[in-house]
Amino acid sequence: MSLNFDCLEEVAEAMTASGKGILAADESTGTIGNRFSQINTESTFENRNAYRDLLFSAEGMEHYISGVILYDETLRQSSLKDNIPYPQYLSNKGVIPGIKVDMGAHDLPRSDGEKITSGLDGLDERLKEYRKLGARFAKWRAVININDDNPSGYCISANAHALARYAALCQSNDIVPIVEPEILMNGTHDVDDSFVVTEEVLHRVFFELYSQGVSLEQMVLKPNMVLSGYDASDRADVDEVANATLQCFFRTVPAAVPGIAFLSGGQSDEDATAHLNRMNQILGENKIWNLTFSYGRALQQPALKAWQGKQENVKAAQDAFMKRAKLNGLASSGKYSLDMEN
Ligand code: 13P
Repeated sequence: MSLNFDCLEEVAEAMTASGKGILAADESTGTIGNRFSQINTESTFENRNAYRDLLFSAEGMEHYISGVILYDETLRQSSLKDNIPYPQYLSNKGVIPGIKVDMGAHDLPRSDGEKITSGLDGLDERLKEYRKLGARFAKWRAVININDDNPSGYCISANAHALARYAALCQSNDIVPIVEPEILMNGTHDVDDSFVVTEEVLHRVFFELYSQGVSLEQMVLKPNMVLSGYDASDRADVDEVANATLQCFFRTVPAAVPGIAFLSGGQSDEDATAHLNRMNQILGENKIWNLTFSYGRALQQPALKAWQGKQENVKAAQDAFMKRAKLNGLASSGKYSLDMEN
């Protein structure tokens, strides 16, 4: 199977097709280094390639994974067995290759420790090159923190503006933008605070997307779920999270957007799957948007743990990855249940 799309709408639909979701394997060199240090593995060029190869070559992954977000280095690396560049390797499997294009979150000047994502300078040229190398979609992540003083309106509007600049540039280069405004789970805030901030951020993001002429039919939204902070005293359960998240999106996300692919944001693997599943069960046949996953940690954590940087553990790591891919694939059509974990 190979990929054949006539327009960006088709790419966006395929990225969020029911039963499948996106693998976020776009950790920067620094972030993958942190993940590898947890398994006492050195972060070399070869080890990073071996690890990504393990994920991409897992047998049958294309049944549950619609697309993979790559990092610049990985986009230029190749499969171990046949030495095929990853964009082509994935396309040959029917999996859509994508690329992280932001340059990370940096201190927002004159703010109280808030962040602004950089990477707009030179982005047009980089997108042209990525498109030639085979990328069909891109990702840009904005980071918003909740605490007693933040987020400020300044931080929200600066990040929303940059997300829309990026999205417009992607579409003019024949690339589907994943628009990712992430409200972090760090902190003691409760689910109501998360709701209020997520609602405000999404309103602002869609205002900017509209103002800058971004086509909503040709994008994918990658939001956080509406969750209690990690350190909240009373944490919302699966039903509360699913209902709050949907209510928030009913208010803010136009029906023209084909798909919403959630980030996992540090939730446990099971929570990330259960929340997605419950939302799809509540929506049922009344699908306003496709609701699926674009998980990094919640797809990869068990695989990393099983791998430990050792060739003899590749099969066990692939099995661990495939288990999460399959269960999240089921959750994307509301067909998951907790007993499938065993
Ligand atoms: P997590 O699912 O680990 O939050 O990562 C998704 C992602 O792509 C963050 O930008």
